[in-house]
Amino acid sequence: MKVDVVLGLQWGDEGKGKVVDVLTPSYGVIARFQGGPNAGHSLKFNGKKYVLHTIPSGIFRASAINIIGNGVVMDPVIFADEVKELEKMGEEIEGRIKISKKAHLIMPTHRMLDAASEQAKGKTKIGSTLKGIGPTYMDKTGRNGLRVGDILLPDFKERYGALKAKHEEMLKNYNYSYDIAEYEKQWFEALEVVKRFDIIDSEYEIDNYLNHNKGILAEGAQGAMLDIDFGTYPYVTSSNTTTAGVCTGLGVAPSRIGRIYGIFKAYCTRVGSGPFPTELFDKDGDTLCEVGCEFGATTGRRRRCGWLDLVALKYAVMINGVNSLIMMKADVLNGFDTIKVATSYIVDGVETDRYPFDSQAKVEPVYTEFEGWNCDISKATSYDELPRELKNYIAFIEKEVQVPVKIVSVGPDRSETILR
Ligand code: GDP
Ligand code: IMO
Ligand code: MG
Repeated sequence: MKVDVVLGLQWGDEGKGKVVDVLTPSYGVIARFQGGPNAGHSLKFNGKKYVLHTIPSGIFRASAINIIGNGVVMDPVIFADEVKELEKMGEEIEGRIKISKKAHLIMPTHRMLDAASEQAKGKTKIGSTLKGIGPTYMDKTGRNGLRVGDILLPDFKERYGALKAKHEEMLKNYNYSYDIAEYEKQWFEALEVVKRFDIIDSEYEIDNYLNHNKGILAEGAQGAMLDIDFGTYPYVTSSNTTTAGVCTGLGVAPSRIGRIYGIFKAYCTRVGSGPFPTELFDKDGDTLCEVGCEFGATTGRRRRCGWLDLVALKYAVMINGVNSLIMMKADVLNGFDTIKVATSYIVDGVETDRYPFDSQAKVEPVYTEFEGWNCDISKATSYDELPRELKNYIAFIEKEVQVPVKIVSVGPDRSETILR
């Protein structure tokens, strides 16, 4: 067996949660491999919407095991809140959530460092979700971090205290005032919730699942354009959001990666700062935001909206080795007479089909226009039922990107999904 992968190809919020939930019945195990509670993955079924931040999106399918991999950074307080919510809903989660010993812990002071760093950056701030992601990954690569497995050690409190003291010094240098007493109390209480779940050597367990023919689906967080290496640096997150991250974030060899599903919206959104070549500042942008309910699932912030960007999409497909595309939120375009897609950029007067290195570069998109379909597609149940104009739009994307669109999502609900 191999590990299949679901990844975002844009700036996050493509609909990964919904797709993972839809695909879970074909897999025994769902595994998050990077990111942390900066993610907000929404699922909808039976008329209700759920948002997950740390727990993989396979949790609502009774038989699936859900693994939080070593590449993830985890805030116990947010994890414990999610557990409480799921239990309140009557979900059987005992024995179905497993956490890597090697996943790193987000401490209360990491959250403060995130906020202090953003405040110090002023106008050049990243627009972080302020969940402590950057500072926690900095401690990981700086070889200072605390890992989930450490909570079982007798000297955990001392280790915590030593790292906290380091952070307090840094916060003094930032001249940042804060009070973490209440959050810290909750944090230690939440560690007891974490201890109720299996804390595992996930690389061995995953190897075992694969050897016993249990299918694994790796669930990405964020998107390719937020990748620490290949995204719009420095306006990115602090992990590898791309396929390579699955190998390091779960301990899976590249030869064991199987199908790679790349998810994109039929248009584009971005939340936080940074380049967004096809961003719209007009009525069309407002319509995309309103019809698409484009407000962050984690922070509630309004998402910036714009047309589909094939330069960025092709780049993301290349970096990830995507072999199946999944198009989300096609229904949000229902009311448009004309739909635009960027097929190249003009950068410094020169036309290019490459994504520019410089995040300050002045990029002007070159658009191709399409006729809209002007009808409601949310009731469609098969590809054949989709309007001709939408099929043309999809065929154009497939031709440009050279990867087939295998799934078209026409609404937020589990059921509003067309498999080709
Ligand atoms: P994720 O972070 O990639 O899991 O995506 P989010 O959950 O942050 O954002 C996607 C949003 O779009 C959520 O509110 C979903 O309920 C919603 N959504 C997903 N697929 C569709 C779709 O096909 N049509 C519409 N209208 N909404 C969708
Ligand atoms: P999902 O998994 C959209 C963005 C933030 C900010 C930048 C850095 O739901 O798609 P961070 O908190 O990581 O330091 O923020 O990345 N960002 C996301 N945008 N969806 C996400 O996750 C995101 N996670 C982080 O807005 O611009
Ligand atoms: Mg999201």
